[in-house]
Amino acid sequence: AFLGIDLGTSGLRALLVNAEGTPLGAVERSYAATHPHPGWSEQDPAQWIAAFDSAMDELRATFPGFADLRGIGVAGHMHGATLLDAAGKVLRPCILWNDTRSAAEAAVLDAMPDVRARSGNIVFPGFTAPKLEWVRRHEPEIFAQTAKVLLPAAYLNYYLTGEYVADMSDSAGTSWLDVGKRQWSERLLEASHMRPDQMPRLVEGSEVAGGMRQKLARKWGLSGSVTVAGGAGDNAAAACGIGALNEGQGFVSLGTSGVLLAARDGYAPAPETAVHTFCHAVPGRWFQMGVMLSATDSLNWLARITGEKPAKLTALLGNVLHPPGAVRFLPYLSGERTPHNDAEIRGGFTGLSAGTTRQDMTRAVLEGVAFGLRDSFDALTGTDAKLDKIIAIGGGTASRYWVNLLATVLGVPVQLPASGEFGAALGAARLGRIAATGVAPESVITPPEIQVEILPDTEKMEAFAAAHQAFRRAYPALKSIQ
Ligand code: XUL
Repeated sequence: AFLGIDLGTSGLRALLVNAEGTPLGAVERSYAATHPHPGWSEQDPAQWIAAFDSAMDELRATFPGFADLRGIGVAGHMHGATLLDAAGKVLRPCILWNDTRSAAEAAVLDAMPDVRARSGNIVFPGFTAPKLEWVRRHEPEIFAQTAKVLLPAAYLNYYLTGEYVADMSDSAGTSWLDVGKRQWSERLLEASHMRPDQMPRLVEGSEVAGGMRQKLARKWGLSGSVTVAGGAGDNAAAACGIGALNEGQGFVSLGTSGVLLAARDGYAPAPETAVHTFCHAVPGRWFQMGVMLSATDSLNWLARITGEKPAKLTALLGNVLHPPGAVRFLPYLSGERTPHNDAEIRGGFTGLSAGTTRQDMTRAVLEGVAFGLRDSFDALTGTDAKLDKIIAIGGGTASRYWVNLLATVLGVPVQLPASGEFGAALGAARLGRIAATGVAPESVITPPEIQVEILPDTEKMEAFAAAHQAFRRAYPALKSIQ
């Protein structure tokens, strides 16, 4: 059997699969982040280990196949800085991806000549390098003791193997990696006062990071040797779970935030559009993604203030697509990443009239989110990414209206998978299997069974393209009055 771990922000999910990669079952544990000051978000890495240990105990008690575990892959929330001293002891709580305390340090690094050129990305405030700059300035005694910096997934791998190893996909989100060359960049390290010896050894996500420590294998009654894969950042792992490996393959996720991801055969960064360009979890491949901060969150907000359930609001629209409405929604409730990289911008409605109904506003919200994802789509295809069809996942896909709208606004068929496992935990389990057995990634990282393919409504595409242009013009106007 093989095990995939999704070390998430709010909890850990451990998925056991059999020798052929078919899911056997999953267990979950939750934990919290602490917010000691506004904008701060931290987690004690001991919580991850406790959650993992307890998940292992439950797997052992529940699944007979657990005893012949051969490989583990870990996917983690990205960008978090876990600082270790020379003895491998954690020096302070991990500073998470959604912690914004280092916005000023990020802006300084981002403005340095050749930083974007080498890392292929904007230095976003959530990325790792500015966090270390913050620690250097505010906690110099901790900075001085920092012997290694590990991302969350690499920290769990360190617990499992006793080795300092990190995978390329997660490391791409540090602002220390030369993402095109897949190696640490001395220039980028130097820019944020770091040294190469503070970095873990790099491996590909599908390669072997190390073997599970004997002590742990004995503790869980594991009979053979267990290989630990390089693992991945959660988005690369999600791409492995949904089978987005080659050029032309990608997914759109309608979750709290929205993600549009495209697998790439080559390296074509576009930091000026706030597209993220990261290494994939397999050699010789990259992926690009646009991130929208409020996707289903926008609908949830409307539901909250109207006292309705989100599903009720969307059900009132029926399934047949209406042409674009006169009311427009700008979905910037928490600022926006792609394409604006603007943490300060806030949302808005335009075109309200005395006759505007709740239904009109619901339609506007769904359209605004679809238009925002179209912005990411344009940013990705602007780098020659091919997305001829897209798999849609996430809570928002429960609304067929929204999926119809998305297919029409993006102008490509949108596929909905049949129910089952296709998330980051499955992607991580696949990496564990590849690392342990040497099987070809292409034979394992495959798309799920598709339940239905939704085609764009060609008669309405032109009207939606025009409405999208108007949506684009609304951002600078909104910006100018805030
Ligand atoms: C990616 C990002 C998030 C985290 C959280 O850039 O910040 O998706 O990986 O899971």
